[in-house]
This record gives sequence, structure tokens and C-alpha cells, in this order.
Amino acid sequence: IADSFEAYAPVNIALCKYWGKRNAVLNLPVNDSLSISLGNKGTTTRLTRLPGAEKDKVFLNGKPVDGESAFCRKVVAHIDLFRPLGSGALRVETRNDVATGAGLASSASGFAALTKALVGLYGLTLSNEELSIIARLGSGSASRSIYSGFAHWHRGVRPDGMDSFASSLDVIWPELRVGVLTLAESEKPTGSREGMQRTVDSAILYNSWPEQADRDIRRLEHAITVRDFTLLGSTAEQNAMAMHATMLASWPPLLYWQPESVEVLQKVWQVRQDGVQVFATMDAGPNVKVLFESNSEPEMRSVFQSMDVIAPFS
Ligand code: DP6
Repeated sequence: IADSFEAYAPVNIALCKYWGKRNAVLNLPVNDSLSISLGNKGTTTRLTRLPGAEKDKVFLNGKPVDGESAFCRKVVAHIDLFRPLGSGALRVETRNDVATGAGLASSASGFAALTKALVGLYGLTLSNEELSIIARLGSGSASRSIYSGFAHWHRGVRPDGMDSFASSLDVIWPELRVGVLTLAESEKPTGSREGMQRTVDSAILYNSWPEQADRDIRRLEHAITVRDFTLLGSTAEQNAMAMHATMLASWPPLLYWQPESVEVLQKVWQVRQDGVQVFATMDAGPNVKVLFESNSEPEMRSVFQSMDVIAPFS
């Protein structure tokens, strides 16, 4: 066991969403999902052994985290998976490149980085698929943040989840851009964990979701293989809208959108009408992310001036 180890994992944006679990303890999904990782936007986690200490000490962006908080409990529970191997208490320093609230989920990159750091600290040699399985136990979407580029999380069928991991598509698409349009901070929405459970339990519309996801996964894989950006973007946008429809069909209804989210979506649709190939996606929050290619970047930057532009393959 090393004294200290640091690891990095990128944030990822799902083009076909993970929404709904068949096993909530192991984070086993109902459907396959497919994502793009955001290169150098992510989480760096350093673990340092604390000989003699009884409890882990967790720091987020340099500030100590309350041991009773949900965040801290989840981190400690993930470390506990490895504790039988003998590290004792650890100091956990985790740093996100994107400010919390910037509309980029940090649990995916967070658990992927923590998993890589634990595996490194213990000097274990694991395959990416094994890393993906362990990261998934912390947060489902973290299974995809083990990779850069495109990742496909296979839902698997086994009750123990050993066939539920992500793999890399091993394709590069240098012209691809992801824009993040961050809205004014608003009240904290229902977490995705609780939100997806409510959808599965109460929305009849959710019955059509697995079929939507299957179709979209096939379309996305084809679009990536033949580099068809219009097919990629339109599939991602329709998939996101379908997911939000199942949320709205839940009881009580789940609406992650704010009035500004609608304004931004309508602006995206207007710009598309005007000839720019741009498509939108949204997760369990009010922010809108857009997909476009480098040839549209000047126009996109002039229309959306506060947009953060990420080139996943640079
Ligand atoms: C809408 O991975 O955060 O972003 O497994 O409960 O931790 P848990 O959920 P989480 O859900 C992500 C949901 C989503 C879609 C996606 O990223 O695929």
C-alpha cells in the first residue's frame, strides 16, 4: 500500500441517458447508456493514509466536508469497499475543475477518480471494465467516466452486476464540441437517485423508455461509426426530451426545467432553424448543454456569449 496516490477522471455527458435502476443497491440500470467525456474537465482526487486516525477526513475544493453530510457518507462507503485490504483512515482531497452548480454532474467524475485513486493506493492492477464496475457502485454514471471519449455502459443482465460496465468506443471525433450554458443558480433540484426511482415507480410513460433507449443506442453507435453529426445530435436531443417526458409523467411530477431552460432551448431551436447544426441535451437539473461541430463555433459563441465550450478530443 502506498502512502499517497492521486487520480483524475473526466465529467461525462450522456447522449443516451441512464434513467431507472433494476437494482438500487448495486446501481444496475434498466437500459444501456452512451456518453462523451469532457477531456480536461473533471475531478482530481488525492488519497493520503492517516496512520493512527480513526476516521477519514474529506476535503472538497480545499474545504473540509462535514462527516455527517450525504457527500461524506457516500465517499466513506466507497472507501469501505477497499478497507478490508488494510489502509486504515484516509485523507481525501477532491477537486472539481468545474464549479459545483455549473451544470456538470460531479458524482460521475468524482466516483471514477476516487475508484482510480483507491486502486492506485493499493497498488492493484485492474482492467478498465473492473474499474468501471467499482465506480458504478458509487454512482451509476461514474461507470462511464473511467474513459475519455465515447463510452457505452452495457446494462448487463446478471443479478450480481458483473456484466454491467462501460467500455470505450475507441473513436475520435476532433471537431466535436460541447457547450455548457449555465443558468442562474436556483434551488437544489431532486437528486437523480430519488428522481429516477420516482419515475420508475409512478410513471406509466416510463414503460416506453427501454425501447427508446435501445433505439437511440443503435442510432448513436451508427452515427459515431459513420461520423454523421446530424444523426448524433438529433438522437441525443430526442433522447433527452423523452427522458424529461417520463419525469414529467411521474407523481408527484418531476420538472427539472426553469423558465430560463425553456428560453435557452427555444434559442437553440431558433439557431438551428437559421441553419446552424446544433442540438441540446439536459440532465437532472436546469442547465442546457449543446452539441455542435467546430465549424459552427464562431456563430455559437456569438449567439451564446456566456457559454463554456469544451473540445472533448483536444
Ligand atoms: C440524468 O449516475 O447521478 O445524469 O446512480 O443514483 O448515482 P446514481 O445516479 P446518477 O444519474 C445520472 C442521471 C443523468 C443521466 C446520465 O448521466 O446518464
